[in-house]
Amino acid sequence: MTPETNNKSHSVPQHIAIIMDGNGRWAKARGLDRTEGHRQGAETVKTIVKASAKAGVRYLTLFAFSTENWKRPQYEVDAIMNLLVFMLERETPELNRNNVKLLTIGDTSQLDKKAKESLKNSIETTANNTGLHLVIALNYGSRSEILLAVKKLADDVANRKANLDTINEINFTKYLYTHNIPDPDLLIRTSGEQRISNFLLWQLAYTELYFTSCTWPDFSEEEFSKAITTFASRERRFGLTGEQIEKNNDKPI
Ligand code: IPE
Ligand code: IPE
Ligand code: MG
Repeated sequence: MTPETNNKSHSVPQHIAIIMDGNGRWAKARGLDRTEGHRQGAETVKTIVKASAKAGVRYLTLFAFSTENWKRPQYEVDAIMNLLVFMLERETPELNRNNVKLLTIGDTSQLDKKAKESLKNSIETTANNTGLHLVIALNYGSRSEILLAVKKLADDVANRKANLDTINEINFTKYLYTHNIPDPDLLIRTSGEQRISNFLLWQLAYTELYFTSCTWPDFSEEEFSKAITTFASRERRFGLTGEQIEKNNDKPI
């Protein structure tokens, strides 16, 4: 996507991406099993989806399961997958009523049969909705996404469907999972960790980063508003000078 240099008129991020972290620690601090943290975290998803729609956010991308998360204990992986199915079945009618369109990024072909079926059903049910785009990152890893894109491109070049001379930053993005999604304006990571953990490495090039010590199960509409307010106070320069940005903001859009 072309960088948006007129930042002042865009105080509400068009696209917010969230690394929902800290479910396990939230549970541990309460003497509960880690899976209870995931259950509570799923309720936070509901709250933040509603808050995003209310704030006028167009895209909300949630990192739900990484390519590396398969290495966790099997019982935890199973609990996360069961929770995904439970939430999709419980919440799809509500998503539909609220005009939310569900999308996924990541290699969902590796999920179990039940999860794939529920996803397919929810995606089809909400396909014609025109409100908030809710993008769930499932079995998502940014390095594998970029590698897959390069392989597809190489294949297209070999089959003369693409020409190396005309490949640029814009048309390369068509090979990514996020091909029809604008780059995030704001990335939020909860739980105090300050790293990207293989999430949207290409797409985050000019995204504003916001880290909070609040764990995901405790993340509330108020915490979410704080992140949006912080975003609104930032000056996004995209490599330009502050003076150039000021001049740009004076111009009618
Ligand atoms: C995020 O919470 C959820 C997933 C990665 C699936 P964690 O489960 O990573 O919680 P912590 O980081 O161990 O506290
Ligand atoms: C990132 O969180 C993945 C998700 C939120 C789904 P992790 O908890 O897996 O990340 P690390 O291992 O702390 O970097
Ligand atoms: Mg974690």
